[in-house]
Amino acid sequence: PCLNAGIPESKTTVPPLAFVFDIDGVLLRGPNVLPATQNGLRYLRDNPFGGDIPFVLLTNGGGVSEKFRSEKLSKQLGIKIAPNQFIQSHTVLKALAHRHFDKSVLILGGQLDAAQKVAEEYGFKKAYTTADVLAWNPSVWPFYTLSHSEQRTVRQANFSQESISAIFVFHDPRNWGLDVQIICDVIQSGGIIGNPYVPPSQQLSSPIEVIFCNPDLLWQSDFPRPRLGQGAFKEAFQAVYKSLTGVIYPYIQYGKPSQATYKFAEQILTDRVEEMYGVRKLPHVYMIGDNPESDIAGANAAGWSSVLVHTGVYDPHQGPPTHQPTFEAEHVEQAIRSAINLWA
Ligand code: G3P
Ligand code: MG
Repeated sequence: PCLNAGIPESKTTVPPLAFVFDIDGVLLRGPNVLPATQNGLRYLRDNPFGGDIPFVLLTNGGGVSEKFRSEKLSKQLGIKIAPNQFIQSHTVLKALAHRHFDKSVLILGGQLDAAQKVAEEYGFKKAYTTADVLAWNPSVWPFYTLSHSEQRTVRQANFSQESISAIFVFHDPRNWGLDVQIICDVIQSGGIIGNPYVPPSQQLSSPIEVIFCNPDLLWQSDFPRPRLGQGAFKEAFQAVYKSLTGVIYPYIQYGKPSQATYKFAEQILTDRVEEMYGVRKLPHVYMIGDNPESDIAGANAAGWSSVLVHTGVYDPHQGPPTHQPTFEAEHVEQAIRSAINLWA
């Protein structure tokens, strides 16, 4: 029987907790779903609270649209992931696109023009890649020749006429040499690649915005050891720029553990609770992650509970984590069950 005046019972009782799941090293390793994932996600429905436990995915990954990746994840995980339940490293940039809609920006990272297309969907109308720059003038970086598939995806532009107003590193760059060269060209020439360099003082007084979307120095793929992430690319760029000018270039950082990303995730999770239960309320949040530097540090700073799993970057044999989680778990299923048991 309906106990609440015709409102299904699950519509009235928000469970006492909600989850924010990291992806790489928690649910997946590369293309592979981790063994504990599907058993663990089952408890989001089979739980003692009488309603589905709200959750969102929060990854420092990216390079494709939220729609595309959430559909792919739904198939991989065997559970429906809606695009508005899925936050990538650059999702937060949707809100910034209007500031650059008519300006030329560079979008770095990802496969071919996939990230460029995401940026255009966000509202960046003049988004270019470093492959577009190389197609315009191959002598920009003589050590690489565009592949046939790259040649098919480039946008025609004359970069001696395009003043780049900002550089967004959406995902992990595939050609660090080309990308570092072009970032340095843009910054040192005040926006127009190939123009005379402006003095470092001027480069810094009116800087071209450089926005990194993922600070991960390391991440867990299907290789046995963690892989270098976008944070390593940032270190490479800054080391070259410092050698050229003597200073570190000012930049903006999004992605876990940045406060902006966690505040954004809290909004998305609150929207999700409202969509499921008709009330704007944030239950107690448990972040389940594999990287103390991004997942645990960010969750702790956001005032959430944090669970560090042993299936990704963090290796318990290497000593205590650099950021203390609320508790540790062998894998995501144990993390979910332990958190639920604390509230059952
Ligand atoms: O490129 C993705 C990687 O940096 C980490 O992804 O899902 O563990 O935040 P994730
Ligand atoms: Mg991870």
